[in-house]
Amino acid sequence: MRYRPLTIGPDIVDIWRWPLDVGMDDLPRYVTALSDGEFARASRFVHERDRLRFIVGRGKLREIIGRYLGVPARRLSFAYNVFGKPRLAVSRPPLHFNLSHAAGMAVLAVSDRYHVGIDIEKIVPLKEDVAGHFFSPSERLALRGVRRGNYLEAFYRCWTRKEAFVKAHGAGLSLPLEAFDVSIDSVGEPRLLRLEGDAQAPAQWRLLNLALPAGFVGAMAALTADNDVSLHYRTDETAESVREEMPLAARVLRASPDNQLLNRASRM
Ligand SMILES: CC(C)(COP(=O)(O)OP(=O)(O)OC[C@H]1O[C@@H](n2cnc3c(N)ncnc32)[C@H](O)[C@@H]1OP(=O)(O)O)[C@@H](O)C(=O)NCCC(=O)NCCS
Repeated sequence: MRYRPLTIGPDIVDIWRWPLDVGMDDLPRYVTALSDGEFARASRFVHERDRLRFIVGRGKLREIIGRYLGVPARRLSFAYNVFGKPRLAVSRPPLHFNLSHAAGMAVLAVSDRYHVGIDIEKIVPLKEDVAGHFFSPSERLALRGVRRGNYLEAFYRCWTRKEAFVKAHGAGLSLPLEAFDVSIDSVGEPRLLRLEGDAQAPAQWRLLNLALPAGFVGAMAALTADNDVSLHYRTDETAESVREEMPLAARVLRASPDNQLLNRASRM
Protein backbone atom coordinates (compact mmCIF):
# COMPACT_ATOMS: atom_id res chain seq x y z
CA MET A 1 0.00 0.00 0.00
CA ARG A 2 1.31 3.46 -0.83
CA TYR A 3 -0.03 6.81 0.24
CA ARG A 4 0.61 10.46 -0.48
CA PRO A 5 3.32 11.75 1.88
CA LEU A 6 1.79 13.29 5.01
CA THR A 7 2.66 16.69 6.40
CA ILE A 8 2.38 18.06 9.94
CA GLY A 9 1.21 21.62 10.59
CA PRO A 10 3.34 24.08 12.54
CA ASP A 11 3.39 23.33 16.26
CA ILE A 12 1.15 20.33 15.84
CA VAL A 13 1.81 16.86 17.18
CA ASP A 14 -0.03 14.20 15.22
CA ILE A 15 -1.68 11.43 17.23
CA TRP A 16 -2.62 8.10 15.69
CA ARG A 17 -4.55 5.31 17.36
CA TRP A 18 -5.30 1.78 16.16
CA PRO A 19 -6.37 -1.62 17.48
CA LEU A 20 -3.73 -4.30 17.89
CA ASP A 21 -6.07 -7.23 17.53
CA VAL A 22 -6.78 -7.60 13.83
CA GLY A 23 -8.19 -10.31 11.60
CA MET A 24 -5.81 -12.80 9.99
CA ASP A 25 -6.52 -11.12 6.64
CA ASP A 26 -4.79 -7.96 7.80
CA LEU A 27 -1.77 -9.67 9.28
CA PRO A 28 0.36 -10.24 6.14
CA ARG A 29 0.78 -6.55 5.39
CA TYR A 30 2.18 -5.96 8.87
CA VAL A 31 4.41 -9.02 8.77
CA THR A 32 5.91 -7.92 5.47
CA ALA A 33 6.59 -4.44 6.88
CA LEU A 34 8.90 -5.74 9.63
CA SER A 35 12.68 -5.86 9.49
CA ASP A 36 14.43 -9.17 10.12
CA GLY A 37 15.37 -7.99 13.62
CA GLU A 38 11.77 -7.12 14.44
CA PHE A 39 10.63 -10.43 13.05
CA ALA A 40 13.14 -12.18 15.30
CA ARG A 41 11.90 -10.14 18.28
CA ALA A 42 8.32 -11.14 17.46
CA SER A 43 9.35 -14.78 17.46
CA ARG A 44 10.66 -14.48 21.02
CA PHE A 45 7.25 -13.63 22.52
CA VAL A 46 5.99 -16.61 24.49
CA HIS A 47 2.31 -15.84 24.06
CA GLU A 48 0.78 -15.69 20.60
CA ARG A 49 -1.43 -12.71 21.45
CA ASP A 50 1.61 -10.65 22.50
CA ARG A 51 3.46 -11.70 19.36
CA LEU A 52 0.63 -10.70 17.05
CA ARG A 53 0.08 -7.42 18.90
CA PHE A 54 3.77 -6.56 18.56
CA ILE A 55 3.63 -7.31 14.83
CA VAL A 56 0.56 -5.11 14.32
CA GLY A 57 1.97 -2.34 16.53
CA ARG A 58 5.36 -2.19 14.83
CA GLY A 59 3.98 -2.89 11.36
CA LYS A 60 1.42 -0.08 11.55
CA LEU A 61 4.00 2.28 13.09
CA ARG A 62 6.22 1.59 10.07
CA GLU A 63 3.34 2.18 7.66
CA ILE A 64 2.49 5.52 9.27
CA ILE A 65 6.07 6.80 9.52
CA GLY A 66 6.66 5.63 5.96
CA ARG A 67 3.76 7.78 4.82
CA TYR A 68 5.30 10.95 6.28
CA LEU A 69 8.54 10.20 4.48
CA GLY A 70 7.11 8.79 1.28
CA VAL A 71 9.06 5.59 1.87
CA PRO A 72 7.70 2.03 1.92
CA ALA A 73 7.29 0.72 5.48
CA ARG A 74 9.78 -2.13 4.99
CA ARG A 75 12.56 0.26 3.91
CA LEU A 76 12.60 2.28 7.13
CA SER A 77 15.53 1.68 9.39
CA PHE A 78 15.35 2.30 13.13
CA ALA A 79 18.12 2.92 15.64
CA TYR A 80 17.76 2.79 19.44
CA ASN A 81 19.22 4.88 22.21
CA VAL A 82 20.88 3.06 25.12
CA PHE A 83 17.53 2.91 26.92
CA GLY A 84 15.76 1.32 23.97
CA LYS A 85 13.92 4.35 22.57
CA PRO A 86 13.48 3.83 18.84
CA ARG A 87 14.13 6.60 16.30
CA LEU A 88 14.72 6.78 12.59
CA ALA A 89 18.31 5.79 11.82
CA VAL A 90 18.40 8.46 9.12
CA SER A 91 15.89 11.26 9.29
CA ARG A 92 16.26 14.25 7.02
CA PRO A 93 14.05 16.21 7.50
CA PRO A 94 13.77 15.15 11.16
CA LEU A 95 10.76 13.17 12.28
CA HIS A 96 10.26 12.26 15.92
CA PHE A 97 7.83 9.63 17.12
CA ASN A 98 6.87 7.57 20.13
CA LEU A 99 4.53 4.63 20.57
CA SER A 100 2.55 3.29 23.49
CA HIS A 101 0.27 0.30 23.76
CA ALA A 102 -2.16 -0.99 26.37
CA ALA A 103 -4.94 -3.56 26.41
CA GLY A 104 -4.97 -4.12 22.64
CA MET A 105 -4.74 -0.46 21.65
CA ALA A 106 -1.77 1.47 20.26
CA VAL A 107 -1.17 5.21 20.06
CA LEU A 108 1.59 7.01 18.23
CA ALA A 109 2.77 10.63 18.54
CA VAL A 110 4.60 12.13 15.57
CA SER A 111 6.33 15.51 15.40
CA ASP A 112 8.60 17.08 12.81
CA ARG A 113 10.15 19.36 15.44
CA TYR A 114 10.03 18.09 18.95
CA HIS A 115 11.14 15.09 20.94
CA VAL A 116 7.91 13.41 22.02
CA GLY A 117 6.79 10.74 24.44
CA ILE A 118 3.39 9.17 24.77
CA ASP A 119 1.76 6.81 27.25
CA ILE A 120 -1.65 5.21 27.60
CA GLU A 121 -2.98 2.92 30.26
CA LYS A 122 -6.23 1.07 30.75
CA ILE A 123 -7.78 1.92 34.08
CA VAL A 124 -7.75 -1.23 36.18
CA PRO A 125 -7.93 -1.58 39.96
CA LEU A 126 -4.56 -1.46 41.71
CA LYS A 127 -3.44 -4.40 43.81
CA GLU A 128 -0.81 -2.51 45.79
CA ASP A 129 0.35 0.98 46.68
CA VAL A 130 1.91 1.72 43.30
CA ALA A 131 1.95 5.47 43.95
CA GLY A 132 3.95 4.84 47.12
CA HIS A 133 6.60 3.05 45.06
CA PHE A 134 6.79 5.27 41.98
CA PHE A 135 5.47 8.78 42.62
CA SER A 136 7.34 11.74 44.11
CA PRO A 137 6.48 13.03 47.61
CA SER A 138 4.51 15.99 46.26
CA GLU A 139 2.59 13.79 43.81
CA ARG A 140 1.73 11.43 46.66
CA LEU A 141 0.57 14.39 48.70
CA ALA A 142 -1.61 15.66 45.86
CA LEU A 143 -3.12 12.17 45.44
CA ARG A 144 -3.96 11.99 49.12
CA GLY A 145 -6.23 15.01 48.59
CA VAL A 146 -8.27 13.25 45.89
CA ARG A 147 -11.71 11.87 46.82
CA ARG A 148 -11.80 8.08 47.01
CA GLY A 149 -14.12 7.71 43.98
CA ASN A 150 -11.74 9.77 41.85
CA TYR A 151 -8.53 8.14 43.03
CA LEU A 152 -7.99 5.63 40.22
CA GLU A 153 -8.35 8.17 37.43
CA ALA A 154 -6.09 10.64 39.25
CA PHE A 155 -3.54 7.87 39.79
CA TYR A 156 -3.52 6.97 36.07
CA ARG A 157 -3.34 10.62 35.04
CA CYS A 158 -0.22 10.98 37.15
CA TRP A 159 1.24 7.69 35.92
CA THR A 160 0.75 8.39 32.21
CA ARG A 161 2.04 11.96 32.50
CA LYS A 162 5.16 10.72 34.28
CA GLU A 163 5.65 7.93 31.79
CA ALA A 164 5.09 10.20 28.76
CA PHE A 165 7.69 12.58 30.17
CA VAL A 166 10.20 9.78 30.79
CA LYS A 167 9.62 8.47 27.27
CA ALA A 168 10.04 11.89 25.65
CA HIS A 169 13.13 12.59 27.74
CA GLY A 170 14.60 9.36 26.41
CA ALA A 171 16.53 8.53 29.60
CA GLY A 172 14.30 5.57 30.43
CA LEU A 173 14.45 4.29 33.95
CA SER A 174 17.80 6.02 34.51
CA LEU A 175 15.69 9.14 35.22
CA PRO A 176 14.55 8.63 38.82
CA LEU A 177 10.77 8.93 39.05
CA GLU A 178 11.18 11.02 42.21
CA ALA A 179 13.33 13.56 40.37
CA PHE A 180 10.37 15.28 38.79
CA ASP A 181 6.76 16.19 39.59
CA VAL A 182 3.74 16.35 37.28
CA SER A 183 0.32 17.82 38.01
CA ILE A 184 -2.45 15.31 38.66
CA ASP A 185 -5.61 17.42 38.27
CA SER A 186 -8.17 16.75 35.54
CA VAL A 187 -8.88 20.40 34.71
CA GLY A 188 -6.61 22.61 32.67
CA GLU A 189 -3.48 21.61 30.83
CA PRO A 190 -1.28 19.09 32.62
CA ARG A 191 2.10 20.43 33.63
CA LEU A 192 5.59 19.37 34.47
CA LEU A 193 6.01 21.10 37.83
CA ARG A 194 9.62 20.30 38.66
CA LEU A 195 12.68 18.58 37.25
CA GLU A 196 15.60 18.19 39.63
CA GLY A 197 18.62 20.24 38.53
CA ASP A 198 16.77 22.03 35.72
CA ALA A 199 14.78 25.06 36.83
CA GLN A 200 13.87 25.92 33.21
CA ALA A 201 12.31 22.53 32.46
CA PRO A 202 8.70 23.30 33.50
CA ALA A 203 8.61 26.15 30.95
CA GLN A 204 10.23 24.07 28.23
CA TRP A 205 8.07 20.96 28.36
CA ARG A 206 4.47 20.63 27.30
CA LEU A 207 2.19 17.87 28.59
CA LEU A 208 -1.18 17.25 26.96
CA ASN A 209 -4.06 14.91 27.81
CA LEU A 210 -5.10 12.44 25.12
CA ALA A 211 -8.73 11.98 24.07
CA LEU A 212 -9.22 8.22 24.34
CA PRO A 213 -12.09 5.72 24.58
CA ALA A 214 -13.73 5.34 28.01
CA GLY A 215 -11.62 3.34 30.41
CA PHE A 216 -8.28 4.59 29.07
CA VAL A 217 -6.11 7.50 30.18
CA GLY A 218 -3.15 8.92 28.30
CA ALA A 219 -0.73 11.80 27.95
CA MET A 220 1.74 13.19 25.44
CA ALA A 221 4.91 15.06 26.41
CA ALA A 222 7.05 17.21 24.13
CA LEU A 223 10.16 19.33 24.60
CA THR A 224 8.94 22.44 22.80
CA ALA A 225 11.15 25.17 24.33
CA ASP A 226 8.28 27.45 25.30
CA ASN A 227 6.17 26.99 22.16
CA ASP A 228 2.54 25.97 22.45
CA VAL A 229 1.56 22.79 20.65
CA SER A 230 -1.77 21.19 19.93
CA LEU A 231 -2.73 17.66 19.01
CA HIS A 232 -4.10 16.60 15.65
CA TYR A 233 -5.87 13.24 15.76
CA ARG A 234 -5.21 11.43 12.50
CA THR A 235 -6.84 8.41 11.00
CA ASP A 236 -6.28 6.63 7.72
CA GLU A 237 -9.25 8.59 6.34
CA THR A 238 -8.21 12.05 7.53
CA ALA A 239 -4.74 11.39 6.17
CA GLU A 240 -6.24 11.38 2.64
CA SER A 241 -4.77 8.06 1.85
CA VAL A 242 -4.44 6.85 -1.67
CA ARG A 243 -4.71 3.11 -1.82
CA GLU A 244 -2.49 1.78 -4.52
CA GLU A 245 -1.58 -1.61 -5.76
CA MET A 246 -0.52 -3.95 -2.94
CA PRO A 247 3.10 -5.08 -3.13
CA LEU A 248 3.52 -8.48 -4.73
CA ALA A 249 4.52 -10.16 -1.48
CA ALA A 250 1.34 -9.03 0.26
CA ARG A 251 -0.82 -10.07 -2.70
CA VAL A 252 0.69 -13.52 -2.66
CA LEU A 253 0.10 -13.76 1.08
CA ARG A 254 -3.48 -12.63 0.84
CA ALA A 255 -4.24 -14.97 -2.04
CA SER A 256 -3.00 -17.87 -0.01
CA PRO A 257 -3.78 -17.51 3.70
CA ASP A 258 -2.10 -20.80 4.49
CA ASN A 259 1.25 -19.47 3.42
CA GLN A 260 4.60 -19.75 5.03
CA LEU A 261 4.89 -16.17 6.26
CA LEU A 262 1.48 -16.04 7.84
CA ASN A 263 2.14 -19.36 9.48
CA ARG A 264 5.46 -18.09 10.76
CA ALA A 265 3.73 -15.08 12.30
CA SER A 266 1.02 -17.00 14.04
CA ARG A 267 3.10 -19.98 15.14
CA MET A 268 6.44 -18.35 15.96
C1 LIG B 1 9.58 1.47 27.33
C2 LIG B 1 9.26 2.05 28.69
C3 LIG B 1 9.81 3.46 28.77
C4 LIG B 1 7.78 2.13 28.80
O1 LIG B 1 7.22 0.88 28.72
P1 LIG B 1 5.67 0.59 28.82
O2 LIG B 1 4.95 1.68 29.53
O3 LIG B 1 5.55 -0.76 29.36
O4 LIG B 1 5.24 0.52 27.33
P2 LIG B 1 4.55 1.50 26.30
O5 LIG B 1 3.56 0.69 25.62
O6 LIG B 1 4.10 2.80 26.85
O7 LIG B 1 5.76 1.85 25.30
C5 LIG B 1 6.45 0.86 24.61
C6 LIG B 1 7.04 1.48 23.37
O8 LIG B 1 7.84 2.61 23.70
C7 LIG B 1 8.99 2.66 22.85
N1 LIG B 1 10.16 2.61 23.73
C8 LIG B 1 10.95 1.58 24.10
N2 LIG B 1 11.90 2.01 24.96
C9 LIG B 1 11.71 3.33 25.13
C10 LIG B 1 12.38 4.33 25.90
N3 LIG B 1 13.45 4.06 26.64
N4 LIG B 1 11.91 5.60 25.84
C11 LIG B 1 10.86 5.90 25.08
N5 LIG B 1 10.17 5.00 24.32
C12 LIG B 1 10.59 3.73 24.36
C13 LIG B 1 8.90 1.47 21.92
O9 LIG B 1 8.33 1.91 20.70
C14 LIG B 1 7.96 0.53 22.64
O10 LIG B 1 7.19 -0.23 21.75
P3 LIG B 1 7.57 -1.77 21.44
O11 LIG B 1 7.60 -2.43 22.78
O12 LIG B 1 6.47 -2.24 20.58
O13 LIG B 1 8.91 -1.71 20.79
C15 LIG B 1 9.93 1.16 29.74
O14 LIG B 1 11.27 1.48 29.84
C16 LIG B 1 9.45 1.23 31.13
O15 LIG B 1 9.25 0.20 31.64
N6 LIG B 1 9.31 2.41 31.75
C17 LIG B 1 9.02 2.70 33.12
C18 LIG B 1 7.95 1.95 33.80
C19 LIG B 1 7.63 2.59 35.10
O16 LIG B 1 8.08 2.20 36.14
N7 LIG B 1 6.85 3.66 35.05
C20 LIG B 1 6.46 4.39 36.20
C21 LIG B 1 5.74 5.61 35.75
S1 LIG B 1 5.22 6.52 37.13
